[in-house]
Amino acid sequence: MAVIALKCPDVEVVVVDISAARIDAWNSDALPIYEPGLDDVVRRCRGRNLFFSSDVERHVGEADIVFVSVNTPTKARGLGAGKAADLTYWESAARMIAAVATSDKVVVEKSTVPVKTAEAIEKILDHNGRDGVGFQILSNPEFLAEGTAIRDLLAPDRVLIGGRETAAGRAAVQALKDVYARWVPEERILTTNLWSAELSKLAANAFLAQRISSVNAMSALCEATGADVAEVAYAVGKDSRIGAKFLNASVGFGGSCFQKDILNLVYICECNGLPEVANYWKQVIKGFKFPAIATTMCKDIYSLTPFQVIKINDYQKSRFVNRVVSSMFNTVAGKKIAVLGFAFKKDTGDTRETPAIDVCKGLIGDKAKVSIYDPQVTEDQVQRDLAMSKFDWDHPVHLQPMSPTAIKQVSVAWDAYEAARDAHGVCILTEWDEFRSLDYARIYGGMQKPAFVFDGRNVVDAEKLREIGFIVYSIGKPL
Ligand code: UGA
Repeated sequence: MAVIALKCPDVEVVVVDISAARIDAWNSDALPIYEPGLDDVVRRCRGRNLFFSSDVERHVGEADIVFVSVNTPTKARGLGAGKAADLTYWESAARMIAAVATSDKVVVEKSTVPVKTAEAIEKILDHNGRDGVGFQILSNPEFLAEGTAIRDLLAPDRVLIGGRETAAGRAAVQALKDVYARWVPEERILTTNLWSAELSKLAANAFLAQRISSVNAMSALCEATGADVAEVAYAVGKDSRIGAKFLNASVGFGGSCFQKDILNLVYICECNGLPEVANYWKQVIKGFKFPAIATTMCKDIYSLTPFQVIKINDYQKSRFVNRVVSSMFNTVAGKKIAVLGFAFKKDTGDTRETPAIDVCKGLIGDKAKVSIYDPQVTEDQVQRDLAMSKFDWDHPVHLQPMSPTAIKQVSVAWDAYEAARDAHGVCILTEWDEFRSLDYARIYGGMQKPAFVFDGRNVVDAEKLREIGFIVYSIGKPL
């Protein structure tokens, strides 16, 4: 919305939220989220044509176009628990819009929703709206990634708008297209029917997650064979049909979107009587049986028994923990391990589904003392994330949260040097740029020996670190 305000000075944009505290934060100098470049955009537009308000009903009532960007988490209980999207917030937003609208409105689905949600929303709007007030619903999924949001919005690969194929539907699509056309080249604004737009969002995230799962699966094979996953990914990505982007092997993907959206896609396939298609997509996050010996750590993290099926993305995280423990002489009990990076990726403070949570829980389960440093994640957030129970989609119950004793094994440091002081090992879990240029000789000097580095993001020059004296493990690389 801030970028729309920036690019369309004659359009008044009001961001509304029922949380007054959140709105206060948006109106203050300390915005409630960290996103490079966002401060600047907000500073330029706020008070001009960008406003933040908790007077939801008034502003929705006055608007011509209403973007609905409420969250759509995975359902925790009831029908479809663990897979289906929870549309409670969406439904109440639609009911509120219907109640306050006194003029025609274009209602835009910005939240990621299951395909066919627009049909349900249309029914709610049409049945609850006042006489003579018309609604057109559009699907306009968001493709920005966190950490690069402003860049992605200013120069998107594409903007997608889906609408009804009626005269009124086409007029609504055109109205929204005119907004984006102020800065996005015409050929990048795609218009489709409603269902294609809704499904394209889930499909795009499923394809992206699939690339990471594919390269991560290859990384395990690289480690077993002496191949280097960076060389393999480079060679594979040079094929223009495949492309070079999004092939970085890692400790696993995180974030609030991929897992949730694929689970949702799987559920939609199941509901449409397509179990083969559902199973195909399950493989991206839910994988295969593997031998008991490799499941020791998974057992610790998820309380699973050997030979149980686990998710392939989780396999990558447990493989990492396994590597840390086995290389440190099969025990990390009482040893200090520095964790550099807790956010799910660089340039964000977001920790939702971050692989760091599972890796830290795995290390703590083996009685390590974990010292965490992340430039954008607060101590409170770390403690909250580690104390939280995990929702397991195969067993829709909340697994046990960490015990108070386990929480005492965690500390949060103010910089990387402090985190690594007296540590036996360093785990790099987020690819923050500053981790590439740390003074690793200084870190080595302050650590217990032998000093280990486990690079879960392949950001350090392993050879240089070995020259200093470190024992270095990277993802998918020969030792
Ligand atoms: C993702 C999509 O990339 C966006 O296009 C989409 O709009 C967004 O979800 C959404 O649905 O809202 P985001 O979750 O912000 O964006 O972040 P990504 O850049 O996709 O990264 C997701 C995870 O994959 C991170 O943990 C990242 O470190 C990891 N990753 C990414 C890899 O491990 N390897 C890669 O090559 C790329």
